[in-house]
Amino acid sequence: MCILKVPAPAKLNLFLHLTGRRPDGYHNLQSAFVLINLCDELEFELIEEDEVRVEIVDERAGENSSNQTIAIPNDQNLVFLAATKLKEIAKLRGIEISGVLIRVYKKIPLGAGLGGGSSDCASTLMALNKIWDLGLSCEELMQIGLSLGADIPFFIGGKSALVEGIGEILKPFDLNPLRFVLINPGFSISTPQVFTHPNLNRNFRVMDSDALEKARAEINAGLFYGSNYLESAAFEIRPELAKFIEFAKPLQLRMSGSGSSIFSMHKSFDDAETAYSDLLAKLKEQKDIRSYECGVYKSYEKHPIFDVI
Ligand code: C5P
Repeated sequence: MCILKVPAPAKLNLFLHLTGRRPDGYHNLQSAFVLINLCDELEFELIEEDEVRVEIVDERAGENSSNQTIAIPNDQNLVFLAATKLKEIAKLRGIEISGVLIRVYKKIPLGAGLGGGSSDCASTLMALNKIWDLGLSCEELMQIGLSLGADIPFFIGGKSALVEGIGEILKPFDLNPLRFVLINPGFSISTPQVFTHPNLNRNFRVMDSDALEKARAEINAGLFYGSNYLESAAFEIRPELAKFIEFAKPLQLRMSGSGSSIFSMHKSFDDAETAYSDLLAKLKEQKDIRSYECGVYKSYEKHPIFDVI
């Protein structure tokens, strides 16, 4: 029996500046992260067996598709790894816990720069902390999350943030509600391949507090600030993304994270709806890019999991 159902929202990077590369290969960055209302859902069920089991259901596969499950090996499955870490912590602290079956219903495309896997991992940590009554603080959960992936602390923080370091430094970045036209090109891009690309500009100057305030004001006015420094590498890997951005003009599009998703940003629902229908009309005339999926989404003020746990 399912005992808890929680959402795991996608994120967008409104800008993403690389400010250096660390000796371990990870990059320091400054990026504005926002949560959007495109969500995976996770169901938790307690089981008799003393184990962690994860099933991933592809909610994007059409109803007629025969194989709706996604197979991810446990050692690469962030939900499995998160649950296993918490199980180990419970054991170390002498807390008795039951086994768990986690069903992940995937709506967020994989390898799309939307943080779906990281968000599933963060929601697993927050939900199991509650279900198993582990009493871990938000900071402790963030530390565990960071050991599994750089974007995970942001999702545990649970609201729009300026993210620094490799992802572990979160600063409040209060934004007005925003709307987005989100475009998924139907292919994924490998994050490590983008971050290790030889042509990446890795040394943008670190923005001070004045520059950050300017960034916030511009974003609140519905304008793109700065750039996504991963775009040039991603566009070399997938030139069709750059072509699509040209094609969509005068609509301004930017890539999220290391791609493949691209989005436009708007201050109001009406502006986003108009941009969306104009884009659909334009796409109708272009047979070769029909497979691009588009939708209108909005930013969340806070993580929707806080309405549940
Ligand atoms: O931490 P995560 O597994 O999400 O990162 C995937 C890859 O992205 C890393 O192996 C690394 O190549 C790159 N990365 C980076 N700097 C960051 C975040 C990710 O170089 N701040």
